[in-house]
Amino acid sequence: MNPKLSLLQPYPFERLRQLFAGVTPNPAHQAISLGIGEPKHATPALLKQALADALETGLAGYPATGGEPGLRAACAAWLQRRYGVSVDPATQVLPVNGSREALFAFAQTVIDPTREGATVVFPNPFYQIYEGATLLGGALPHCVASDPARNFAPDWDSVPAEVWSRTQLLYVCSPGNPTGAVMPLDEWRKLFALSDQHGFVIASDECYSEIYFRDEPPLGGLQAAKELGRTDFRRLVAFTSLSKRSNAPGLRSGFVAGDAALIKPFLLYRTYHGGAMSPAVQAASVAAWGDEDHVVENRRLYREKFAQVTPLLAEVLEVALPDAAFYLWAGVPARFASHTPGLSADEAFARALLAQYNVTVLPGSYLAREVGGHNPGTGRIRMALVAESAECLEAAQRIHRFVSDAR
Ligand SMILES: Cc1ncc(COP(=O)(O)O)c(C=O)c1O
Repeated sequence: MNPKLSLLQPYPFERLRQLFAGVTPNPAHQAISLGIGEPKHATPALLKQALADALETGLAGYPATGGEPGLRAACAAWLQRRYGVSVDPATQVLPVNGSREALFAFAQTVIDPTREGATVVFPNPFYQIYEGATLLGGALPHCVASDPARNFAPDWDSVPAEVWSRTQLLYVCSPGNPTGAVMPLDEWRKLFALSDQHGFVIASDECYSEIYFRDEPPLGGLQAAKELGRTDFRRLVAFTSLSKRSNAPGLRSGFVAGDAALIKPFLLYRTYHGGAMSPAVQAASVAAWGDEDHVVENRRLYREKFAQVTPLLAEVLEVALPDAAFYLWAGVPARFASHTPGLSADEAFARALLAQYNVTVLPGSYLAREVGGHNPGTGRIRMALVAESAECLEAAQRIHRFVSDAR
């Protein structure tokens, strides 16, 4: 067996199952899960129709890994409309089967494990795929804390020059999961300068870009590059997805765009890996990228929901409306730290909340790693507000009662 498999950590939901083992949720309440970040709003009819129409011919042949020119053009046109950036659909865009597999596969393309101390840097807490991709790629992870003190911006200045010098890949996540923070232009400027100095590649994970709560849409990585005069997008690839934008996590469709010198070897890797997208999914994706009405409506639903739920929870938890994405990343009262021996405050909170009110939230410590004695997720919980408004509001009311009763 591949010995690197033994390096993988248990996935957060596996740890949650263990935490909840032996807990009987209060039967007086219907179960509500704010645990998994899976979109639950309706998939738009135009996407389903395009998929159904394409089934007539769409399953009869092997697709090319590079995708149909029409899909690449639709992706490039969306980037132009959304960010005002121009990419060459033939050389700077590649369809992928959701951003998850692409974020993983990209590391396998970029990392050279034969170089001493090969390192991948990413924020802490983080989307778990970054770590698995790093370890299976034969590199060392270096996690950078995103603390509330800096409005959840990762503390890039804390990374020693010696670590940057052996860094081959940097994952950034903006809007962030779980923090919802959007990276401003100054942060991009800093990271581009570090990339120029040390030669590492930047993978910009942007799958939450269309769900935002400020007037200004989140800045994208390619957009930041363009604004800083880097129109060749050197050493930068952005990852985006229809899963959240178009409520289609089961479609498995996204794309990457950026530096042609990285897209080319990535296509080569994907050809062997088997990363081609079904022609039917490609047709549905063209329809989805070409329509913004459903995206505006989707965003409206999230805004309405967050406007109802956030102030209520802010009365009992340390939480505020995020820049973007669909999570609340909340601090729990310190008294939960001594609630259950052997459990951190976030674990104790999640376990007791399930037992008393049948609401599932994810302990923040499961999404982060302890570095230098500090786990930036400890004492926080992640709540995914993906269900319909009424259900999320009901969950918030129960959490309010739970925290108030536990005073
Ligand atoms: C930060 C982040 N990146 C990427 C993904 C992958 O999404 P998909 O593979 O559906 O595009 C997720 C999914 O939850 C995520 O939270």
